[in-house]
Amino acid sequence: MKPSDMTQYDETPTSPTPAPRVAGLLAEFDGPEALVAAAARVREAGYRRFDAYSPYPIHGIERAMGIRPTVLPWLVFGAGLAGCAAALAMQWWMNAKDYPLVISGKPRFSLPANIPVAFELIVLFSALAAFGGVLVLNRLPQFWHAVFSSHRFARVTTDGFFLGIEAEDPRFDEPSTRAWLETLGPRSVETCYDPGTGRELPKALYWIGVAAVLVACLPPLWIAKARATTSTKPRIHPIQDMDFQPRYHAQAASPLFADRRSMRPPVAGTIARGDLQADDHWLQGVVGGQPAETFPLRVSRAMIERGRERYEIYCATCHGLDGDGKGPTAIRALERAEPGWVAPRSLHADAVRRQPVGQLFQTITRGLNTMPSYAAQIAPEDRWAIVLYVRALQRSQDARMDDVPPELRSQVQP
Ligand code: HEC
Repeated sequence: MKPSDMTQYDETPTSPTPAPRVAGLLAEFDGPEALVAAAARVREAGYRRFDAYSPYPIHGIERAMGIRPTVLPWLVFGAGLAGCAAALAMQWWMNAKDYPLVISGKPRFSLPANIPVAFELIVLFSALAAFGGVLVLNRLPQFWHAVFSSHRFARVTTDGFFLGIEAEDPRFDEPSTRAWLETLGPRSVETCYDPGTGRELPKALYWIGVAAVLVACLPPLWIAKARATTSTKPRIHPIQDMDFQPRYHAQAASPLFADRRSMRPPVAGTIARGDLQADDHWLQGVVGGQPAETFPLRVSRAMIERGRERYEIYCATCHGLDGDGKGPTAIRALERAEPGWVAPRSLHADAVRRQPVGQLFQTITRGLNTMPSYAAQIAPEDRWAIVLYVRALQRSQDARMDDVPPELRSQVQP
């Protein structure tokens, strides 16, 4: 029998078929109360493989049927815990073990930073457990059920209240079970048959499943191919943008120019706008080959304020707010005994205090040993402002009597 013949099994068969197997009994009741009462009786009689069907949920039916609370919440809880553990382990492995990076001296593994990913995986794992758990615990998907062989059963979604006992139940015996069911006062009792076919996955779904599995294999295959081949190009490049427009690569030859270079040198004897770097005092802190003794611009209170702001952003982490070399980064590096760390010098050391402003400027511009160059981050104007503020800091720790206003001098201990 072909699957398309399945709906006709209860009519005159076109070819000899084996007698259909009895799959169970289906009784219809008048309403929800009758169904609940009947369900309780069926359970008391010792049947276990039975089910009640109604157009809407009925309060108390699960107690009458003796259905125990589902374990699903515990499965979801367990999956959530597993998601949390997986997220923390993954982040610990990536950030603290496999590829540790020090970022602003922060710890490599720290719970607060890991909470967002942990939260996401908890949600993901529990949602998948809830979805899959419902399917597995209810033995879904199920494409066939014995009650489908009843024509009356089509009304279960409008106004039918049914109770079905399956033939698999050990206490099931068709004639006696039927006689007993009749005593519960049903509208009708029907025998359901197993057509013996059509229980398997519909052909179309089967092929959709096969296609889905094949398509799901493509991305891993694609990744595997990209990992196996060596290339300087981005390995996986789904969005091409303008990456493959016609253009010259650096250092490539060009037939367009007489010298056959695609990279054009600056026109001889010219300088691009803004590229003139002729002012050594302003840009290098140098005058006549020596570190400058003077500022290349008029100093002002506003400039000290600007310098203070920049100093607190760029320098205070190492040198400390007051310049004594005890900034938070320095203290932490010492505590952790970071290898290769050089303690920042106190800006109040005599040697630094005696330096001309041009030399302070050079230290910021070029860096010194482990102190990096700040030329790229801080514009020359701000570097001079910082130098001015460093001078003010130094003065604050080494004031002379004539720095104190005359009316306050009597209060100062020399
Ligand atoms: C990453 C930490 C760090 C930062 C940030 C930093 N420095 Fe330093 N600085 C050092 C260290 C370390 C030394 C000492 C180097 C040595 O002794 O070899 C130093 C030395 C100096 C010196 C003394 C130079 C000398 O001749 O002895 C000056 C002045 C100075 N820094 C100014 C600054 C200023 C201004 C800034 C902000 C723009 C700054 N530093 C930012 C770490 C830092």
